This record gives sequence, structure tokens and C-alpha cells, in this order.
Amino acid sequence: MNYLHQFVFGIYPYIALAIFLLGSLIRYDREQYSWKSESSQLLYRGSLRLGNNLFHIGIIGLFLGHAAGLLTPVIVWDTLGVSHGAKQIVAMTAGGLMGSLCLIGIVILLVRRFSNDRLRAVTTIKDKVVLLWILATLLLGLSSIFVSAHHLDGHDMVQLMTWAQHILTFRGDAASFIVDVPFIFKLHLFMGMSVFVIFPFTRLVHVWSGFNTVRYLSRAYQLVRAR
Ligand code: HEM
Repeated sequence: MNYLHQFVFGIYPYIALAIFLLGSLIRYDREQYSWKSESSQLLYRGSLRLGNNLFHIGIIGLFLGHAAGLLTPVIVWDTLGVSHGAKQIVAMTAGGLMGSLCLIGIVILLVRRFSNDRLRAVTTIKDKVVLLWILATLLLGLSSIFVSAHHLDGHDMVQLMTWAQHILTFRGDAASFIVDVPFIFKLHLFMGMSVFVIFPFTRLVHVWSGFNTVRYLSRAYQLVRAR
């Protein structure tokens, strides 16, 4: 294992997580007025409903799928009698489906954003970086399905799960588990971790608020006018 590998997969995850958590906290504390999704609906409605919904269904599905798939301990699957190969097939199918929805959505959003004068005028470099970074991460993830299809025994997937779980439980040997996984997975991991790095500096902060809307299910009605 060389130093670069140890840095990117053993140390960088913590740098990314620290920037993500501390950066979000500081931005929330200091820049409340910039904490928003920067909706473009008022400027141009065209293709927004389709593109935005497909993109969000896909990306939220991918986020929850990655969290459950990577972080559920292997022993849970073994106890339930789910073979590693079967779990890999489920991961490839669910990831492929959600990834395809997300890809169609993000392409619609990109075309919409760059083909409309008013939207182009308000689009910042950061907006472009966010969309293109997510697109690149997504394309790498979808391409990795074809690589996975060549070895369906679930071995690489278990190595990736072990890496993620060792990172989360602060064990120093995490990077050693993914030394031999194909390069495309490593690139996908790096791009995915970097989304957390750019997160606090962009409109992505709205994701915190998005997940927080679950609280609306249990909160009291907001009385705007007595009658
Ligand atoms: C958690 C629930 C979420 C909610 C409620 C939510 C809501 C929104 C809203 C209202 C917009 C503005 C759409 C418009 O232009 O009117 C938006 C845009 C956007 N969201 Fe989310 N979002 C969520 C999760 C996510 C996640 C997980 C990601 C990716 C990590 C994401 C990435 C984006 C991006 C990149 C845009 C800009 C799209 C564009 O260029 O038009 N969102 N979101």
C-alpha cells in the first residue's frame, strides 16, 4: 500500500467529513440568508418538474441505498442468509435503476440551465461545479456496474463495505481493504467523498433542510391568519 492510497482512502475521508460537518455548521451560523436551494422556478419553469423530480428521486435513492448497503455490517447479511453474490446483484440493480433516473434528471437540468438565457445569466461557477461533479460521480458509479458484472461473487463489494465501516468506526487499517479493487471504484469513491468537501460552499446545503422536512409530519399547524 503506497502513501497516496493511504492518504486518499485512510485520511482524506476524515478531512472530507470534517469540512462537511464543520463547514455546514459555520455556514448555518454565519450565513443564514445564503442557506437555500436557489430555486430557479420563478425564472423559468420549463422542464423543471420532470428534470428536478427525476434527479431528486434518483439521488435520494442512491444516497439511502449507499448508506444502507455500505454501512449494514456484513454479519447482518450473513445471519439473514443473504449471500454476498445476491446482495451484489440487488446493489447493482437498485443502483442501476436509481442511477439511471438520476442521470436522465441531471441531463435535463443541465440542458435546461445552459439553454435558457435567464438561467445562464444567474448560474455561478459553483452551480456548474456542483452539477458537473455529481454528473461525473454518477457516470463513474454507473460504469462500475459493468466492471462488477465480471465478478459476481460479491468479494469487492464486501471489501468496499469493510472499508466504509472501518472508516466510520475510526479504525486505522481501513484503506488496506480496498488496495486491490478496480481503479474505477477508487475514482468513484474519491469523487463521492469530494462531494462532501464542496457541499458547505454551495447550494447543496439545502440537503440538510430537505431531510429536516420529515419533521413537518409531526409538527403543529402553522396558523397564518385567525380567519
Ligand atoms: C433531501 C431532500 C431534498 C429536497 C427537499 C431538495 C429540494 C430542492 C429544491 C427545492 C431545489 C430547487 C429546484 C428549483 O430550481 O426550483 C433543489 C435543487 C437542487 N438540488 Fe435538491 N433537494 C433535496 C436533496 C438533494 C440531494 C441529496 C442532492 C444531491 C446531493 C440535491 C442536489 C440538488 C441540486 C444539484 C440542485 C440544483 C438543480 C439545478 O441546477 O436546477 N438535492 N433541491
